[in-house]
Amino acid sequence: MPVVRFCRDGEEIAAIDIAKGSSVMHGATVAGLDGIVGECGGEMVCATCHVFVLSHGDDIPELSPTEDEMLDFTVETRKPCSRLSCQIKMTDELDGLVLGLPQAQV
Ligand code: FES
Repeated sequence: MPVVRFCRDGEEIAAIDIAKGSSVMHGATVAGLDGIVGECGGEMVCATCHVFVLSHGDDIPELSPTEDEMLDFTVETRKPCSRLSCQIKMTDELDGLVLGLPQAQV
């Protein structure tokens, strides 16, 4: 199963196995990761699953217009590497993906 590494302040705080086809948000919330809320369950209306993509950027599909719009409503200001983790579906290519967690989402 592909693994995702989560960091805060440059330090890895968790490594979670997430099944292929599942979203990063789903895998992280099932594992009880502090920092990804996923309040809307992946419907792209809450922006509480905000992450910073620190690796594998080319392996993640482009932003949809809706995701791009929702990233303007995150608690912590978006960056060029910002994504909604409910929109990142795990694949073999994403094994070892490194994601940063916003401070404000804790
Ligand atoms: Fe609500 Fe991602 S879980 S926008």
